[in-house]
Amino acid sequence: MSKVCVFDHPLIQHKLSILRDKNTSVKEFRELISEIAMLMCYEATRDLPLEEVEVETPVAVAKCHRLAGKRVAIVPILRAGLGMVDGMVNMMPNVKVGHIGLFRDPETLEPVKYYYKMPPDIGERDVIVVDPMLATGGSASAAIQFLKDEGVQHIKLMSIIGAPEGVGRMQADHPDVDIFVAALDDHLNEHGYIVPGLGDAGDRIFGTK
Ligand code: PRP
Ligand code: URA
Repeated sequence: MSKVCVFDHPLIQHKLSILRDKNTSVKEFRELISEIAMLMCYEATRDLPLEEVEVETPVAVAKCHRLAGKRVAIVPILRAGLGMVDGMVNMMPNVKVGHIGLFRDPETLEPVKYYYKMPPDIGERDVIVVDPMLATGGSASAAIQFLKDEGVQHIKLMSIIGAPEGVGRMQADHPDVDIFVAALDDHLNEHGYIVPGLGDAGDRIFGTK
């Protein structure tokens, strides 16, 4: 069974409270999504392997640790996942970014794929899939299946808010994929929106409503 990690760090929780507020502007919403992603990325990459190196300081030789060159890719689910990319790239400037375009059919809530572009060596990379909202879990589960079909073996999912339904779906479909969220909310409403949630993440990031 996969691990579900809820980030209860005070900085993340503070920013999340502003993000949820319906009066938060598009500008501030975008900035907060990016900042929360940056803080979550810091924790979600805690297990990246290090290698020992010797560094000459002005005083002596120090035994230090550097990233062991593990190849990582971030894969945002369009559109809303795009809002999380900048914050993560700030933390990992050499990371590669693949894109999966999915939207939820408003009637069936099933994900519909409209775009897919990955780095050519995606099958050899560790992948962090990012999408602010894990609602029914249909979009995340489908995105992760596309990546597994390309041979990706190590995948994590990073969302800002998760619903129990989405976590359950992910754990059933992909028990090998650990899930990182800033909050686990109560339930989904009849339109598949997370309650209390923050509304439509894509619309709030791009100002389309
Ligand atoms: C939203 C959100 C997720 C998906 C979550 O995307 O960004 O991708 O819904 O719902 P699910 O867990 O039930 O699949 P949406 O379809 O609204 O598209 P958008 O990001 O382009 O606005
Ligand atoms: N997608 C969103 O953007 N918000 C929700 O609450 C559920 C799915």
